[in-house]
Amino acid sequence: MGREFQTVLAALLKILPDYEDMLVENLVRPFILKDEDYKRLMDIMLGEFNKGLGKETNPTAKVKMYPTYVRDVPDGSENGNFLALDLGGTNFRVLLINLNGQEVTMESKIYLIPQHIMTGTGEQLFDHIAECIHKFMSNHDLLKEKIPLGFTFSFPCKQIGLNHAILTQWTKGFKCEGVEGEDVVRLLHEAIKRRGDIDVECLAVINDTVGALMSCAHSDRDCAIGLILGTGTNACYIEKLENVGLWDGDYNEPKQVMINTEWGALGDDGCLDFVKTEYDRQVDKHSINPGRQIYEKMISGMYMGEIVRLALEKLRKHGLLFGGKGSEELSTRGRFYTKYVSEIESDVDDHFKNTKQVFEELALEKYSDEDCRIAQYVCSLVSTRAAFLASVGVAALLNKMDRQDVTVAVDGSLYRFHPHFHDLMVEKIQQLVKPGMKFKLMLSHDGSGKGAAIVTAVANRLRESEKESIGENGLEN
Ligand code: GLC
Repeated sequence: MGREFQTVLAALLKILPDYEDMLVENLVRPFILKDEDYKRLMDIMLGEFNKGLGKETNPTAKVKMYPTYVRDVPDGSENGNFLALDLGGTNFRVLLINLNGQEVTMESKIYLIPQHIMTGTGEQLFDHIAECIHKFMSNHDLLKEKIPLGFTFSFPCKQIGLNHAILTQWTKGFKCEGVEGEDVVRLLHEAIKRRGDIDVECLAVINDTVGALMSCAHSDRDCAIGLILGTGTNACYIEKLENVGLWDGDYNEPKQVMINTEWGALGDDGCLDFVKTEYDRQVDKHSINPGRQIYEKMISGMYMGEIVRLALEKLRKHGLLFGGKGSEELSTRGRFYTKYVSEIESDVDDHFKNTKQVFEELALEKYSDEDCRIAQYVCSLVSTRAAFLASVGVAALLNKMDRQDVTVAVDGSLYRFHPHFHDLMVEKIQQLVKPGMKFKLMLSHDGSGKGAAIVTAVANRLRESEKESIGENGLEN
């Protein structure tokens, strides 16, 4: 081999990694959005909020801004024993909660909802739920008691009262026939009646975002936004009645109401197309609800792992990962769990302990440190975009509410377990809010149980006092 050729080869080998980096960069660049893009997205979000709130504009709006009939944060005087149901997150749970001023104790049990029920009929679903309530009550020796129940039902609902919620459409992995367009409290009561062996009445139905807000507001009066970053994503906030064109309730004090934004549906009219990547389009296409919940699909835990998987597969097919050799697992839809993203990004040194563990779980045989580095990079791009996109929504709400100090109650597995989500969000929200505005992101604990209990406690108190006044006058007030 001539000397000259050797020199050229050596030089080439030196720049090859850079060249490979460049190829990788080309394939994942669409995940990187500019500051102007985020600013533009915030303006779009604000526009959608207003469209959803307007009486005339709401019917064609994608972000529905449902008034919830929850008017105020708790005052700490709520007390008693309550049952709660939590449907719509990672697990279905039944809870028993005792409220006693600031003291809250609870016991809960997780019950599985088998896949065939998630996509079966509504009757099967509610019969299953009623059966779980029965099991829970029987295990806690409650069968003879009458305990008010709060239902955290985390799907888009048009509420027509505190205990009337009409499901508009299923989201996340659910698709039970015969429930859309129906009042889920009625369906629950019918299932309870069909069994005939439990005495339970649902007094309130809330969204998980409202649960998070209420639970946090129990100890922090500045709490005015509830945010979920878990299987799905959504937020609720406190709005002045004068801004809610849709409101058809009374105008008594407090002149405000919690609005369940259902912001996951942003983009269902194509307004996010300018930032969507080919990976997002794939995820949407193969989902149970194509064309729906576009913003949610770019952010939440149900989809994040799959976005990363698709990007890794693409890199592999281009020979830029694992020497081009994948595995059946890596090629399987849904097999790259979102928890892997958190695990991979939790590696802080070059040993890549977690990353290698994930590769092992995916039965990948050949991987180098460079593969680990690239996988980590892809994960961080996808999760950073998710955190920034969620920040856009929070900043839009903060700017809209225009209060001095706001605490945002946050719950959900994505936010809880990702090592950088919180910090990324604080950074981005700070950039987007009006100067001088102060906010805090606070982890909200057990919102779906505690929040439901608090709302139910208020509903129960109202009902008891109504009963009393009927008793006293023999007339309804
Ligand atoms: C989905 C649901 C919404 C819920 C969110 C978080 O977006 O439609 O109601 O709050 O997931 O669980």
